[in-house]
Amino acid sequence: MSSVDWHPGSWRDKPAAQLPLYADPDALLAAERSLSQAAPIAPIGESEELKRQLAEAAVGRAFLLQGGDCAETFDGPSLDRVQSLADLFAHLAFTLSAATTTPVVRVARIAGQAAKPRGISTEQRGDQSAPVYRGDLVNGYAFDPASRRADPARMLQGHAHALATKALIDRLPSPLFTSHEALLLPYEEPLVRRDAAGGRHWSVSGHFLWVGDRTRQPGGAHVEFLRGIANPIGIKCGPTLTAQELLALCDLLDPDREPGRLTLIVRLGANQIDAVLPGWMRTLKAADRQPLWVCDPMHGNTERGGPRKLRRYDVMLAEVRRFLAIASAEGIWPGGLHLEMTPEPVTECLGGSGPAHPDDLSDWRSACDPRLNGDQALDFAADVARLAAQAVAA
Ligand code: PEP
Ligand code: CO
Repeated sequence: MSSVDWHPGSWRDKPAAQLPLYADPDALLAAERSLSQAAPIAPIGESEELKRQLAEAAVGRAFLLQGGDCAETFDGPSLDRVQSLADLFAHLAFTLSAATTTPVVRVARIAGQAAKPRGISTEQRGDQSAPVYRGDLVNGYAFDPASRRADPARMLQGHAHALATKALIDRLPSPLFTSHEALLLPYEEPLVRRDAAGGRHWSVSGHFLWVGDRTRQPGGAHVEFLRGIANPIGIKCGPTLTAQELLALCDLLDPDREPGRLTLIVRLGANQIDAVLPGWMRTLKAADRQPLWVCDPMHGNTERGGPRKLRRYDVMLAEVRRFLAIASAEGIWPGGLHLEMTPEPVTECLGGSGPAHPDDLSDWRSACDPRLNGDQALDFAADVARLAAQAVAA
């Protein structure tokens, strides 16, 4: 299908994974209509600027630092929290910039990162069951069937929250771009706007949107949606993705090989990256593609055992180490780092300066996956910087 056949709603003809069922179609339509009149969160000119900066990163002249909450919630926003996240970014960027000798492009998981893909659709606790929590943009965190009902009004709340958050970001002294997973398509579709000059379609829900590892099927609705918007976009690349599928996704999502368009966010896990990443890099190189390659050491290293997900600092660092080594061996610029992190003093990840034992993860606040706290993130960036400086020198 060529882009001529694309329109903001063309995803509706494709199979869509991970979308909630809304019980009231009229309420859904009303929310979508309001969103189509709503103010842009990410102005098109800013997304164009980000694309230019990511084009530099793809060719080795910049480095992407992307990070923030796994799932944003609707408490807040507050200037304090936005400011402390920006401060954390500044510290990490300083360290990474020195190591890579390039400018660091800062992209937060913020102002729209409130819809989550889930492995199950129903949650069971004892003899009670309720629909699973899919992020504040969809339903409520509290475990009861009423709160867990998908409510389209939450999309309007989410838009207001994102707009207020962006207004706070705009008060920061240095640029922080916004990004989120383009998961909830009834929210995304009405936030597509046409630019004045060229007539291209842009998402104004965030500067950078990515397709998740669970929704990246080449024939699926999420890829169809992202195909037609002109923003810089990312693909989360997990271990079940084959090199041929990756190539197909690149052809679908970036047929014109536009500089800065495509970021591949590799999240293979420390124990799979050696077997998979070299093949991906060779396949794309042979096809004359030069996307921005970024390491997400969080999502392939999530352990599921106890009541909560678990992530270990050393395992995550091991994946970054292998990412850098493989990229170097393949002659590819290791262009970025994608982290789940918060400046708050939470204890959600094991190791580094944080707790050494799962029983000591006492201050858990994440609405979804475990994040590095501020100290862990600073240490992690310093460790990555050491490894990257070695790779750059080599
Ligand atoms: C995420 O980034 O929070 C996420 C769900 O990632 P992935 O799609 O890579 O699993
Ligand atoms: Co996550």
